[in-house]
Amino acid sequence: MCGIVGYVGPRDATPIILSGLKRLEYRGYDSAGLAVLENGHIELRRDAGKLERLATLVEQSPLHGHVGIGHTRWATHGEPSARNAHPHLGGTGEVVLVHNGIVENFLELREELNAEGVEFRSDTDTEVIVQLVDRYLSMEMGLVEASRRALSHIKGAHGVVILSSREPDKIVAARIGNAGGVVVGVGEGEMFVASDMPAILEHTRKMVFLESQQMAVVRRTGVEVQSLAGEQLDYEIHNVAWDPVSAEKGEYRHFMEKEIHEQVRSLTDTIAGRVDFDEGRIRLPQLNLTPELAQRIRKIFITACGTAGHAGMVGKVLIESITRIPVEVDIASEFRYRDPIVDEDMLVLAISQSGETADTLAAMDLARRKGALLWSIVNVIGSQAMRISDGYISMQTGPEIGVASTKAYTAPLVDLYMLAVLLGDMRGTLEAAERRRLVADLRLVPDLVGRCLDREAEVEVVAASMKEVSHCLYLGRGINMPTAYEGALKLKEISYIHAEGYPAGEMKHGPIALIDQDMPVVVIAPRDPWYEKMFSQIEQAKARGGKVIALASEGDQLIAGVSDQVLWVPETPWRLSPVTTVIPLQMLAYHIAALRGLDVDQPRNLAKSVTVE
Ligand code: AGP
Repeated sequence: MCGIVGYVGPRDATPIILSGLKRLEYRGYDSAGLAVLENGHIELRRDAGKLERLATLVEQSPLHGHVGIGHTRWATHGEPSARNAHPHLGGTGEVVLVHNGIVENFLELREELNAEGVEFRSDTDTEVIVQLVDRYLSMEMGLVEASRRALSHIKGAHGVVILSSREPDKIVAARIGNAGGVVVGVGEGEMFVASDMPAILEHTRKMVFLESQQMAVVRRTGVEVQSLAGEQLDYEIHNVAWDPVSAEKGEYRHFMEKEIHEQVRSLTDTIAGRVDFDEGRIRLPQLNLTPELAQRIRKIFITACGTAGHAGMVGKVLIESITRIPVEVDIASEFRYRDPIVDEDMLVLAISQSGETADTLAAMDLARRKGALLWSIVNVIGSQAMRISDGYISMQTGPEIGVASTKAYTAPLVDLYMLAVLLGDMRGTLEAAERRRLVADLRLVPDLVGRCLDREAEVEVVAASMKEVSHCLYLGRGINMPTAYEGALKLKEISYIHAEGYPAGEMKHGPIALIDQDMPVVVIAPRDPWYEKMFSQIEQAKARGGKVIALASEGDQLIAGVSDQVLWVPETPWRLSPVTTVIPLQMLAYHIAALRGLDVDQPRNLAKSVTVE
């Protein structure tokens, strides 16, 4: 989705904006541009293609100034081209704007503006906004008022950043609904604006997050926050703990590779401070959970998208087995439209790395309207999902840049495990000895994950043998059924190989017909309560000429004897096994995509945070 960066201060805005946009590349884009106020007028460079193209344009025709905005565009209305790339200029050339979101009523507004004699220079929905700001500037309004009036016309969810040569001391930023975040970075005598923190993290860790229906007037000396109705608002400056170096690739070829390897640390941090190993207890204070509340919960809905949804499926097995509370897992895009039966005695738990996924936020809004208790597990501090929740768990992973989620999958698995133990403890469904055992097992996690990573060379051998395949099946069962879904999703999203995750018990009801020598089958068969069922699955696939790559617990010679290749994982307590079983599958997908020479971190058509429906 689109990325936004803005700067106002004493330094040259161009390199700051270009480097900020570079840090947002992971979000996915197809064109890029920037606008700077130079000697009192707006200078613009933009084109289709990657940031290198924009950098070349800037090199050929430099632009310098102390105020500027930039954008990476993910096309929705109008093909990727120079004329459709942001920033967009108003007709008078005195105002320029970048935008994230979709103007749902743009056709109607375009007609209205056409009738006033406005000539459109792009095919985008965005241009109507800047033409509206221009309309109000021409009526002698100031930039803030003109922006406010313009925004009052548009429908949909938006992040908008505007600057004008008439008022060169400021940038106006606004957030309407859930089209991604707008964050203001507070520096020393300089200020930054961005859609996402990594863009400006190298300059400041002091952040102001805009809520929906809020505008920020950003000057080099500070920021004012107002409602869209014009009322001055108080705001909080958050000190973000993220380390700017964690948003760098370092010695790794790709962010995904780095993030896979960061999981020992991210899981150590996930557990740190939340587990009392002496008492055998879990502490998650940000959930605001009391024993009374824990007793009241009759049912839990977990709602999320993609990888986060797979974590939710594991969460269902964990929570039901430990607390005996019924759990339903619902893809957020389904939940939001199916009028689910939710009431005040139910808990809706959203999982989202970005905390800005449009479908997940809409599902949360619905849950709120139905009166449910609303919790979230999120990675991005200050994100909308975190802010609208009654309680939350923050993933301790640091920024995840690769589009394919890895460390932001394993962290919520451990969060859900801890949540289940805490709920079970507070509801009295967990015997003390069992609770102590479950808590003690958490200590094993970082080391077990490290042992999976140590086997990377073996995974590379399997990857080399699979790099030319066109299709692949992943089978799993019980708590590792979602591992099959997640392994298949990782493979398809970065290697473009058609991969299906399937509950192993369903094979005989149809998919078994697909198995032949050209269809490798990855069978997830660690020693967990579903082990024997999975073993017989391998035999069935072999009997039909399939090539079996088994994922098995170290030392399992029975599995090795019936499979073509084996991905080994260390013996892991079964409720934590999805944390280890997914690691070889992440590495497998990574190495296959890398061997195919693909753009691992920015796969085609995908965006890191999906802020449109
Ligand atoms: C993960 O590899 C995917 N790119 C995608 O499925 C992702 O998990 C999904 O879009 C949800 O994102 P979120 O966690 O930011 O809400």
